[in-house]
Amino acid sequence: MSTVENFNKREIDRRLAEGFPFTHRWHNRFHLEMPFGLINDPNGMTYHNGAYHIFYQWNPFGCAHKNKSWAHTKTRDFCTYQIPQLALWPTDEHDKDGCYSGCGTEEDGHLRVLYTCNAKDEEGNRSSVQRFGTYTKAAGAVKKEEIIIDGPPAGFTAHFRDPYLFDWRGVRHLVIGAQTEDKRGCVLVYREAPIRWECLGELRTQLKDFGYMWECPNLLSFGDYDVLVFCPQGVEARAYDRQNVYQAGYIAGHASMDAMEMLMHGRFKELDHGFDFYAPQIVTHEGRHILIGWMGMPDREEEYPTREEGWMHSLTLPRVLTLRQGHIFSEPVRELKALRHRETERALEAEGESEFSTTLYDLTEMILDLTMGEAYSVSVELVFGLEKLVFRYDRLTQVMTIDRTGMKLGGRGKRVFKLYAEQTLSLRMYVDHGAVEVFFQHGEEAATIAIFPEKNIRPMLRVFSDVDMQQISGVLWELESFHYESI
Ligand code: FRU
Repeated sequence: MSTVENFNKREIDRRLAEGFPFTHRWHNRFHLEMPFGLINDPNGMTYHNGAYHIFYQWNPFGCAHKNKSWAHTKTRDFCTYQIPQLALWPTDEHDKDGCYSGCGTEEDGHLRVLYTCNAKDEEGNRSSVQRFGTYTKAAGAVKKEEIIIDGPPAGFTAHFRDPYLFDWRGVRHLVIGAQTEDKRGCVLVYREAPIRWECLGELRTQLKDFGYMWECPNLLSFGDYDVLVFCPQGVEARAYDRQNVYQAGYIAGHASMDAMEMLMHGRFKELDHGFDFYAPQIVTHEGRHILIGWMGMPDREEEYPTREEGWMHSLTLPRVLTLRQGHIFSEPVRELKALRHRETERALEAEGESEFSTTLYDLTEMILDLTMGEAYSVSVELVFGLEKLVFRYDRLTQVMTIDRTGMKLGGRGKRVFKLYAEQTLSLRMYVDHGAVEVFFQHGEEAATIAIFPEKNIRPMLRVFSDVDMQQISGVLWELESFHYESI
């Protein structure tokens, strides 16, 4: 038997309440994170009783990937959040080695969650069963209920997790991350039926040699199109994509629950080109598909120096997804505009210059349009004293490089991707204490980057180009921190 920690909810919640608001300078102020422990995937995202409920994977006992539980918070406006609490944790033989990822749904006026119970026997054999639960406000926790799927179907391994519910022609279905016995990653589909959930089999795709495991699937509809979001593990890096250890992306096409196939889908595209983005989950409310990702990466713990301070990782800003010609655009939810301090609004203007710089705020949102004119190489830098994070655009090859080698602490390296900016390179950038999120060309591409500046200094923005740019224009605001409320 593995040792199960003492999950004393009352004590853990008390310590959590003491940890907000944050004081450590590396703690992000407008990204969700925890005062202690390690967080990963967003889970159970549901709109219920006028608020978005956000759960996420959390180890309250340290910065190792174990003791997986669910934390819970909620928000009406993505700016004010309830102080998180422990909501679901290992208690029995099914989930003693982790309450793994899952989704949420509203059912008969209740907030229900569906999660993977992970357990290992003495020989280390894994079991994965899928179980419902109901979250109640009074308990501040999930009451565990029926197990609906007690293991993978024949031909699949116990890597069988992360159920995501969706409605298909009025019937509840779910997709779940899976692995075939010959070690091929895929997604399985189940349909709700009167007695039990029926396995419809693998949702086939045209992807070949696409990794040994697919985690965290989501299936979304955009009008006539369907998008399968998933996280393949074991696909190789290429010149312009797939450069993280694991990927988070999608294919867009037409899902057929009769043919059990994603028909006429395009290529696999990543949702984010930064270093620190994985396991996103999407909640749909009033026609908006809102995505939150985990700002982190499995098996790269050494890249996050907050580990020494007792906490690790954050969630990304919530982003609205739209599908245009088979491509997902993502932009931060409009509610975040309420974080702008109106009186700090500052316009950026320059004409015919090859250099431009200005000081940013402690927490900044910035919109920057660079009309390149004759310039072919343009760099946008966030400078922290002697350290810097660089975005370099090469217009000839239409390649954007994110260069983190100029930072001292934490993960470094480069990420390179194709970006089609004809005349104007447009960036929208959010700079928090330990996080930078960038939306390129009005959300055509996005990048999430964790940073850990050594010195406590305000960043400078520095833009320069090989020859004079035609025009630089933009606007920036100081942002407020998230507000946290006790229950
Ligand atoms: C993805 C993941 C999921 C799993 C969870 C466990 O990051 O590995 O597949 O359910 O994390 O924390």
